[in-house]
Amino acid sequence: MASKRLQKKKTAQKAAPAEMPKTEMLQADIHTFQQRLARHYDELKWLYCELYQDNPYVMMHLDDLVSEMKKFYSDRNSALKESDLRREKDPSWYKRNDLIGMMMYVSSFAGTLKGIEENLDYIRECNVNYLHLMPLLSSPKGRSDGGYAVADFRTVQEELGTMEDFAELTGKCHEHGISVCLDFVMNHTSEDHQWAKRARAGEKEYQDRYFFFDTYDVPAMYEQTCPQVFPTTAPGNFTWLSELGKHVMTTFYPYQWDLNYRNPIVLNEMIFNMLYLANQGVDIVRLDAVPYIWKQLGTNCRNLPQVHTMVRMMRMICEIVCPGVLLLGEVVMEPEKVVPYFGTVDKPECHLLYNVTTMASTWHTVATRDVSLLRRQMDIIASLPRDYTFQNYLRCHDDIGWGLDYVFLKNFAISEVPHKKYLNDFFTGKYPGSFGRGELYNDDPRLGDARLCGTTASLCGIERAGFEGNEEGVSLGIRYDITLHAFMLSQSGIPVIYSGDEIGQLNDYSYKNDPDKAADSRYLHRGSFNWELAKNRRLPHTVQGRLFPMLDKLEHIRTSHSVFNASAQLRTIDTWDSSILALVRENEEEKFIGIYNFSEYDKVAWINEEDGMYLDLISGREMEAKGVQIPAFGCYWLCRKKS
Ligand code: GLC
Repeated sequence: MASKRLQKKKTAQKAAPAEMPKTEMLQADIHTFQQRLARHYDELKWLYCELYQDNPYVMMHLDDLVSEMKKFYSDRNSALKESDLRREKDPSWYKRNDLIGMMMYVSSFAGTLKGIEENLDYIRECNVNYLHLMPLLSSPKGRSDGGYAVADFRTVQEELGTMEDFAELTGKCHEHGISVCLDFVMNHTSEDHQWAKRARAGEKEYQDRYFFFDTYDVPAMYEQTCPQVFPTTAPGNFTWLSELGKHVMTTFYPYQWDLNYRNPIVLNEMIFNMLYLANQGVDIVRLDAVPYIWKQLGTNCRNLPQVHTMVRMMRMICEIVCPGVLLLGEVVMEPEKVVPYFGTVDKPECHLLYNVTTMASTWHTVATRDVSLLRRQMDIIASLPRDYTFQNYLRCHDDIGWGLDYVFLKNFAISEVPHKKYLNDFFTGKYPGSFGRGELYNDDPRLGDARLCGTTASLCGIERAGFEGNEEGVSLGIRYDITLHAFMLSQSGIPVIYSGDEIGQLNDYSYKNDPDKAADSRYLHRGSFNWELAKNRRLPHTVQGRLFPMLDKLEHIRTSHSVFNASAQLRTIDTWDSSILALVRENEEEKFIGIYNFSEYDKVAWINEEDGMYLDLISGREMEAKGVQIPAFGCYWLCRKKS
């Protein structure tokens, strides 16, 4: 395998201009690195020294960092370096309307990395050119948190394949114009990671890479200000290691030990791991749980300024070593905490952030049939610089946390705890007449802040209606599913579909029979991809045959109209109906009005645009943008060319 890769490297190098002698070529190559380093070195040094000002060896660690960066740059294959140069010249390459993402677990979709490679045709049929492969690095069975407890950042889970398979897959994806996103779980390692094992064996040097305490005094102080992530499935932020007689910090599961970034060796080593993965062909590094990476007694240990310092450094390091690589921040936080992770125009941090507030507000709107909050959220997004690029999504592998703007909701006499209860009752089908079929996640009755699991199709009513043999209900559910995707696809940024949603896959209850998964209801929406049902996508009378081609159509419309480019201006307009949202996108060429009905009744959107005839891009019908009749759970994509 290794020799195969070497061969590939050689072939790629051959492709470079033949007239340039090898030594000159190498010099030019290193010059590129030096130039990029020179551009960022002062700031990098400044931030590094500020972060580690108390460390007497700070300069030594910084020098080590830079010399390793150079090595990773030299090791980077020429195809990736060429892609870096291309993307450097076109820094907006990920900001247009031509990327469509899909996220999937390798094992659920195709069993192995080779399986993914064999099924790239299906992925391409889904119009996907941004593929997020969920955690695939080695992780202990039964203590893996869905792969988010990494035991070795440079080894692939045995049953999925090898690192060579992964590099081969990224190469194949690149040939097909598909960028690959991979999680970089940097807040913690698995307790099976070599560092953790050595720490457990008593080596002080490795204990210093985590947070160890001899007594519970300090942990008790942390617990006073530091909330819990998994209050029921993994209560507390510390775990007692009886064989060592010490407490270790474990913000997530007890087998996920928090890394101590106060130790510069930890930062350096983790950056080397990130660069190693980038050199395997990862285009987008998903910074998992990034708000948590710096801990400080007396704080909530989230979003601390040092986190931003580290992300900024990682951004610069990527711009020096692998500028084609993007950082996607997983910041699942209240709205005001999210945007700062873009950094500033001069000092950018993440390239991409999850649009978590829009996602949660969308599902709130489904349950309340009132678009006020969603409209406000769209107005907030519209007021942000067009340059901020969000990853939009309806569902992902995680639960839906109800992080809504409760200050705004207070205007409607809605308060947090009872509202969360309402949303959860609605989507678990407890609320009279509700069509959602989800399950609670981390339900702590003391706090009343349970979150929610379920697939889009199940939350849209397809599961319930299908189970009851209610054909009309199924049709309505499908329509709603399409409308929610249409809404997502009409937002600016990168739309990412959760694998299985394109065929309306329902909840998978089999996790309850698996002792390793039964306690974690997120597995409800992490079922295996149903290839049998996927075949139906060509049969128009089936759920799949009604959903798949429609999403395909919407995706094609999105990529073929410049008005979906993130640079277009965005605003909402009044529809004079609390259940209907109208979103306007406008550039010099086109004006687009997306109209979405979140109610189960046929309605009229009382918009009144006086600028002529529009074409509904979905049905192909010409119509006026005035008093638009819109079916229950339906949508329109009206568009007008400006001449
Ligand atoms: C992220 C992942 C989630 C995981 C957590 C801990 O939030 O999305 O699935 O449990 O990080 O790593």
